[in-house]
Amino acid sequence: MSLRVAAVRWPDDGVPLSDGDALVYTSSLRASEAELHLALRTLSEAERERHASYANGVVARRYAIGRATTRAILGRHLSIDPAAVPLRQERYGKPVLARGVAPAALWFSVAHSDDLQLVALSAAGDVGVDVERSRAIAHWERVAERVLDPAERRQLARAIEAGQEAGPAFLRHWCRVEAELKAIGCGIQGLDAHREGARPAGHRVCDLTELPLPTELVAAGRRYHAAVALCTPRGESLRPSGSATAHATAPVARPATASTA
Ligand SMILES: CC(C)(COP(=O)(O)OP(=O)(O)OC[C@H]1O[C@@H](n2cnc3c(N)ncnc32)[C@H](O)[C@@H]1OP(=O)(O)O)[C@@H](O)C(=O)NCCC(=O)NCCS
Repeated sequence: MSLRVAAVRWPDDGVPLSDGDALVYTSSLRASEAELHLALRTLSEAERERHASYANGVVARRYAIGRATTRAILGRHLSIDPAAVPLRQERYGKPVLARGVAPAALWFSVAHSDDLQLVALSAAGDVGVDVERSRAIAHWERVAERVLDPAERRQLARAIEAGQEAGPAFLRHWCRVEAELKAIGCGIQGLDAHREGARPAGHRVCDLTELPLPTELVAAGRRYHAAVALCTPRGESLRPSGSATAHATAPVARPATASTA
């Protein structure tokens, strides 16, 4: 079954989550001092401490703006104040809504690349998203050997034989892997299992071929690759996959003006 994903810019005009399996918001991590000040007011004490702990000012600012945007998006969908969104962190670092405290079942995932943030939401189950700036990758064969499973490596080799550029073609695969690891919640710890072909039950993944970029990032002329993964039903264990388990399907994307790849 293909994955239905809508991709929109934040803030949007109120796209309902029920329209598809997942909804992905794009937003900019650039901000003025005044916007940073406002963002910090919606963060929890632990989040403000994390912001203050970064030695690099750009990274600190991106974190605060990104987390405030995530809170604003979740708050809108839960109909609560962004500062009151009950977030906690799972064992491997995945931020999640505190069950029993959040007013509705909602899963989310966050990814960044430069000044771009993606927040994926789903009411169906664990969701994961990843985004990478399109670029050349040094020693991509060695990296692919380390992070892709044999079926993915064959697909990648075919794409390159068919004339695709190696770096961007590798990044398309890598985004799918990271989206999947984020949906599971294991992060990079799950890479060995992935390379051995393990996939969670109900696992689906798709490329976001059309990503509506925030206006200031369109002007920068950068291109991105992105993917979304969804795992339903919850609580089932990993099972080995055949080569056809990971579906790369065109998302239902709207409104979509700026292309990524
Ligand atoms: C989460 C992970 C999978 C991706 O991190 P990343 O690519 O560095 O950064 P991204 O911007 O894509 O994602 C970061 C976000 O993922 C989320 N995240 C962190 N740990 C997570 C986990 N275990 N599961 C799901 N999501 C997680 C957080 O929301 C985080 O954003 P925040 O810190 O602002 O809250 C991380 O486990 C990791 O270690 N990545 C290593 C990447 C790597 O080795 N690349 C080389 C191969 S080419």
